[in-house]
Amino acid sequence: MKKSTEKTLQDQWSSKWAFILAATGAAVGLGNVWRFPYMAGTHGGSAFVLVYLVCIILIGLPVMIAEILIGRRARQNPVSAMETLAKESGHTKKWGVVGWWGAAALLLVLSFYSVVSGWSIAYLLRSASGTFSGMNASQVSNFWQHFLSSPWQLLTWHTVFICLTIGVIVRGVQEGLEKATKFMMPALYAILFLLAAYAIIEGDFRQAFHFLFDFNLEQITPSVFIAAMGHACFTLAVGAGAMLTYGAYVPKRVNITTAVCVVATLDVLVAILSGLAIFPLVFAHHLTPNMGPGLMFVTLPIAFANIPGGTLIGSLFFILLLFAAWTSSINLAEPMVVILMNRLKLSRKKSAMLVGALAWFIGIGSLLSFNVWKQVKLFHKFTIFDVATNGPTDIMLPIGALAFALFAGWAMKKKFTRPELHRKVFPTWRFLIRYVAPIGVLVIFLTRAFL
Ligand code: PHE
Repeated sequence: MKKSTEKTLQDQWSSKWAFILAATGAAVGLGNVWRFPYMAGTHGGSAFVLVYLVCIILIGLPVMIAEILIGRRARQNPVSAMETLAKESGHTKKWGVVGWWGAAALLLVLSFYSVVSGWSIAYLLRSASGTFSGMNASQVSNFWQHFLSSPWQLLTWHTVFICLTIGVIVRGVQEGLEKATKFMMPALYAILFLLAAYAIIEGDFRQAFHFLFDFNLEQITPSVFIAAMGHACFTLAVGAGAMLTYGAYVPKRVNITTAVCVVATLDVLVAILSGLAIFPLVFAHHLTPNMGPGLMFVTLPIAFANIPGGTLIGSLFFILLLFAAWTSSINLAEPMVVILMNRLKLSRKKSAMLVGALAWFIGIGSLLSFNVWKQVKLFHKFTIFDVATNGPTDIMLPIGALAFALFAGWAMKKKFTRPELHRKVFPTWRFLIRYVAPIGVLVIFLTRAFL
């Protein structure tokens, strides 16, 4: 990033590729490797995958373009950006609420994200010390259950991860991250290819393939729609101003549409590869696809236990996953930090600490729901962790996405949005952002509410 001395957000990514890399870093994370497979597993496999892909194209992509366009035009934090652009088009400054809403959603996401990233740190250490080698499927499962039952372990790793995230944000070592991402991302792909290849050869590929890709209309229920739409927003990091914040650093000459398409493709690819690495093992070892958040943690170690060099491969996998989670969590915390800095005039250090402390505290509820508060059920059936993960992702992000779509499609004047996009794509984008995305979100919410 090039730095400038001015107070407004004048920093810029050094090139189109630097931006694509950072945005991919934000998009690719636990959502792809950990959440996508288990959500697909609990929501009928192919039904979920299909709706997720459709939501990515019809809602995720146009909203991502909208957020980046808003960020680049305003070059401010999400709240101020919405206020400035609303005023520019003759509307009320109240649109700034969308920025606050998004930042709050991201804070909640960060709270559970850190808990799960903590699991990855623990598993990294376990893999490196050879704990999994030679284990069979039921031993791996038992290990997982045992691990979850210890609140102190979970708390330790959750704390470590929050410190890692806030540490980077306080220092603002984005430059270093930009460089590291260049190596880590391709390495993550390579290792996922390897794991998928192992699973395809050794596992039950045929059943996994049918499970993930068979077209199956009856399975598509309103709750599948909600889950898939929420996950599409989550995985692309849209609906909360996270992309808007990165968009504020995008140079004028960058073609937003191409960048967004590259990011989304790379993102979906990681999810599909993860599915292919996990499900053949699930079926070959008679595990249940709908076992929920533990899915990745009880399947991949089986592969590490049996592959030659599994200790090394397992360790590498968890390092890369952790890194992917880290680049995402920085993007999760950054908008709230910038907003607090700009609006409450706090220092970067203070706002980062405040955001970290809040996310840490809220995250404790999530981690206790696996042990001490296991019996606590909200709305009669959900654990605190379920609510903390699905509430912000399935409800808050799509509402945010709807607000950004209405803002960019209806509130902003056409003369302000048009110059930001290539003239060939502008009409298509405008149609999607005015009609398809908002109606899509509304229809999905309404069907869920009334069916
Ligand atoms: N996209 C990230 C993931 O898939 C999560 C994320 C959501 C990051 C929202 C930033 C903003 O893991």
